[in-house]
Amino acid sequence: MPLQVIIGTQWGDEGKGRIVDWYAARGDYSARYNGGDNAGHTVTVGEKLFKLHLIPSGIIHPQMTAILGNGMVINPQTLLAEMDMLHRAGISVSPGRLHVSHAAHLITPAHQALDRALEGKRGTGQIGTTGRGIGPAYTDKAARRGLRMADMLAPEFEARLGDHITEANRTLGWLGAPELDPKPICETYLQAAGKLSRHIADTSLELHAALQNGKTVLAEGAQGTLLDIDLGTYPYVTSSCTTASGVLTGLGLGLDAARTATVTGVVKAFQTRVGSGPFPTEVFDELGSRLRGSGEHPWDEYGTTTGRPRRVGWLDGVLLNYALRVNGVSELAVTKLDILSGLDSLRLCTAYRCNGQRLTDLPLIPTDLGHCKPVYEELQGWNEDISAARSPSDLPSAAIAYLDRLGSLTGIPVRLVSVGPEREQLVVFPK
Ligand code: GDP
Ligand code: IMO
Ligand code: MG
Repeated sequence: MPLQVIIGTQWGDEGKGRIVDWYAARGDYSARYNGGDNAGHTVTVGEKLFKLHLIPSGIIHPQMTAILGNGMVINPQTLLAEMDMLHRAGISVSPGRLHVSHAAHLITPAHQALDRALEGKRGTGQIGTTGRGIGPAYTDKAARRGLRMADMLAPEFEARLGDHITEANRTLGWLGAPELDPKPICETYLQAAGKLSRHIADTSLELHAALQNGKTVLAEGAQGTLLDIDLGTYPYVTSSCTTASGVLTGLGLGLDAARTATVTGVVKAFQTRVGSGPFPTEVFDELGSRLRGSGEHPWDEYGTTTGRPRRVGWLDGVLLNYALRVNGVSELAVTKLDILSGLDSLRLCTAYRCNGQRLTDLPLIPTDLGHCKPVYEELQGWNEDISAARSPSDLPSAAIAYLDRLGSLTGIPVRLVSVGPEREQLVVFPK
């Protein structure tokens, strides 16, 4: 009963969607277990570019059943829009193959308004959230006053939603933000409830049975390890468990499921971050623009969800080793190696200098990370365009040396290397 976990090892946008797409060709269930529509996962199939925010990337493969797990926070409007987008692209989103956990929490317009108002109040301490209401929805969940998918099916849903908006209006008023009218929100959500009701299910039960029956379940992480609420660069994080441990709670699986798990750590060949927070290997100026891209290509470093330019830098091996440890990663999938083509030399951060000390792990006080100076190793670059590489022997020796160094620095084998956004632009290394 194999569980295949795909985790971002950085600050998100590592290319998880395209790696899930590769595994999904051989899977049975594709499941999201954390976060909401703050995520933006891109899968490119020929002329078609899918940007998925809530529905797991495996949906594109027709044999897959898609699961939105109980650890998620779901904006029903986004979900319906995404279902519509997929339907128009000829991909079935019928109740037979798209199941939403009854215990996943709802995001409402009040959560979105609170997210924006709270960010406004933070001033220079802004987290740089996506504004999708993620933090306030998880706050309501932890405070035990949240609304869940199953509540949509109950006769008192309208009244409870109305009360939630009225309650949120008090806080919005206190924050100086405009209040919301509960009536149209209730109407919209009641309509959504009607459309989604046949998708709401006990997905924990379903996945348990699937694993018992020898099916393959792909668990698709959203965000990245360094955005984890507990293990990330707090407070510049998201509000959910983005790491491998979240798979069990976020899908309602027991520890027995972990015994069969393979954890693939997706690592971009360089570092990116969108939003605020420390970033020791960040680069600016010409090199920054070179790594980010001008925005003319869909894969350039601009947020899939918000369109914000991403901050960029050299690959941080200290943070990577941390991520591999806390997730129990068994193999690496390196993405965007093609973007490094044409650079004379490459840098890889292998340690920090911090308060006079040499560190190979994170400092105890998260804000100290901002004062850490990277210790770099220089590696030779390559000039060849590698986007047509399909086997390890197609890669230039300097690219192989970069991957080998990643392998020796982390002690984890590189299994997949992506050299472009397209499905076929992948090099698979023998196990
Ligand atoms: P995710 O959130 O981890 O799924 O990643 P995103 O989809 O937000 O961002 C990754 C971007 O890089 C997308 O536009 C992908 O199509 C693109 N991409 C993924 N792998 C590669 C690659 O190897 N090379 C290039 N050039 N683009 C890639
Ligand atoms: P995927 O799944 C990159 C970042 C936001 C912000 C912080 C908190 O596509 O990798 P939130 O709206 O979650 O409260 O914002 O987290 N963030 C992401 N950054 N990729 C993502 O998702 C992200 N989801 C949230 O930019 O810094
Ligand atoms: Mg993304």
